[in-house]
Formats: sequence, structure tokens, C-alpha cells
Amino acid sequence: MAANSTSASYEAFHQALKSAKHIATLCGAGLSAESGIPTFRGEGGWWRTFEATELATPTAFKKNPSRVWEFYHYRRELVLKKQPNKAHKALVDFEDKILSQTPQNQTFTVITQNVDGLSSNLKNFIAMHGSLFRTRCTKCGYIEENRNSPICEGLKGTENSNFDINLPIEKLPSCTKCNGLIRPDVVWFNETLDPDILNKIHEELNRCDLFLIIGTSGLVYPAASYANYVKSRGGKLAIFNIEDTGKADFKFIGPCGETLPRALDVCEET
Ligand code: OAD
Repeated sequence: MAANSTSASYEAFHQALKSAKHIATLCGAGLSAESGIPTFRGEGGWWRTFEATELATPTAFKKNPSRVWEFYHYRRELVLKKQPNKAHKALVDFEDKILSQTPQNQTFTVITQNVDGLSSNLKNFIAMHGSLFRTRCTKCGYIEENRNSPICEGLKGTENSNFDINLPIEKLPSCTKCNGLIRPDVVWFNETLDPDILNKIHEELNRCDLFLIIGTSGLVYPAASYANYVKSRGGKLAIFNIEDTGKADFKFIGPCGETLPRALDVCEET
């Protein structure tokens, strides 16, 4: 779908960007869609015969750790082959622009629900749902960065299977400290978010006067409540999505790889 916002709406948004003091974003899976990473809802949300959201739960992991690891191994292998797209780059370029102001009279914070790490070039970002490339031990709690491909020998090649492999626990990824079973360090459904991260997000929302909602269906809490919160404090909202997902002061309907660079006025010279 092509972007369909008018030049006037981009100009109005440029004015809003200039006058805002504290700009923040809430990003979702749509930000990475143009990098070739499936979103959670809609047709991209299926893996084998499961909905992605059925597997991202502590109950699913307890019941069948092999299946959940096969799913996360598949996602890690997929993401490791992907690159940041034009929308990710626009956020980085916009941050550079804000940071190069003298004096720096605006702030820019990217809050993302994504766990793919494709925004890790940013200096100021909050990954509220954790990272695909961090693991946490279910026994001793040890957390570490892990970009190994494959993450363990047992999972090698399972990303191409259409069936459960049913690996025993000993063949699943294990802790480098205590050899216990590790899990992806991502926030699953029915789990609470890290309180320090929530505090940081609330600090941002409490000062934010322009909130960009990029590629998210806005269905998962607490993130789903942020737009209304900013609005209730008098902040302005801008939606970047291929679908119309709600009320906002600015709407840029279309692939965010097209709309975001133009809206943030950081289009690459051609
Ligand atoms: P969803 O899959 O729910 O929504 C993706 C959104 O991106 C939809 O609104 C699409 O219309 C939009 N979209 C798709 N392609 C786009 C493009 N090229 N440009 C702009 N928008 C596009 O993903 P999230 O909202 O991120 O949580 O889902 C939120 C959370 O639910 C995820 O972080 C994850 C998931 O289950 C956990 O894993 C805890």
C-alpha cells in the first residue's frame, strides 16, 4: 500500500515537530515489517500451526519448552539475517538531528515493543518487551547477551521444520553459569514488565508533548494505554500505520518506511 497523506499534513506535522519540546515514540512490529519480519497479528502472526501470541507465554514454555525454543530459535535466525529499514534509519537520523542542536532544547526518546534489536543504533531507546538476543536462566536468573547462531546444537536446522522436534531439556539452551534451562529474556503474556523500565517510560510520558505511534496495533497493555495518557495530558498524537488504528492529531497511513522519513524530514538525498 502506498502512502496517501497530503503535503499539507506533512507540513503541519513539521511545524508540530519544531514546536514540541519532548518527542517520544511507541513502536511496534510494523516498524520492522519492511525489514521482512512478520508482525504478530494478521497473517504474519502464524508459525507452524500456532499463533505467535499462543507461544509467547510462561504456560506454553512450562508445558513444552522445546516448542517455545524452536519458535524463538526460528525468530532469532530470521532476525539475524535482517537489516534495519528506512523507518529505523529515519529514527536514528532524527535522533542525530535533535542531539546536534546547540543548545539542545528538545528531547527524543524511542519506546519500542519490538524485541528484534533493529533499533539498537539509537542512543536513547527503551525496549520495553526485552530482547530476542538476551537470555535468562530459569534456575539462577543469570541474564546475558547471546547472538549465537544456532543458540545450541540441538536447535540447529529446526527453523526449517514444520513439525515439533520435541528436544529433551538437556538439548535445549543452557546457562553458562549453572547449566540450568535458559529462556529468551523477553516479556511474555501474563508477565509483568520490569518496574525500572516502567518508571522510565512514565517519566517520558509525563513530559511528552508529541507522541508518535509507529506500526503498532495498540492492543497489548500497558503500551496500549500510552496514547490516551499522553492525550489526556494535552500532548499531540501522530499515527504511522498501514491501517487507520484510531484517533490522532496526525495520521500517516502507509508503510512507515515511506511516511516516517518524510514526516521527520530526514529523507535521504537521491
Ligand atoms: P501487531 O502485529 O499487533 O501490529 C502490527 C501493526 O503494524 C499493525 O497495526 C499493522 O497494521 C502495522 N503495520 C504493518 N506493516 C506496517 C508498515 N510497513 N508500516 C506501518 N505499519 C505497519 O504488533 P504490535 O503492535 O507490535 O508482545 O504488538 C504488540 C505486542 O504484541 C508485541 O510486542 C508482542 C505481541 O504479542 C509480546 O511479545 C509481549
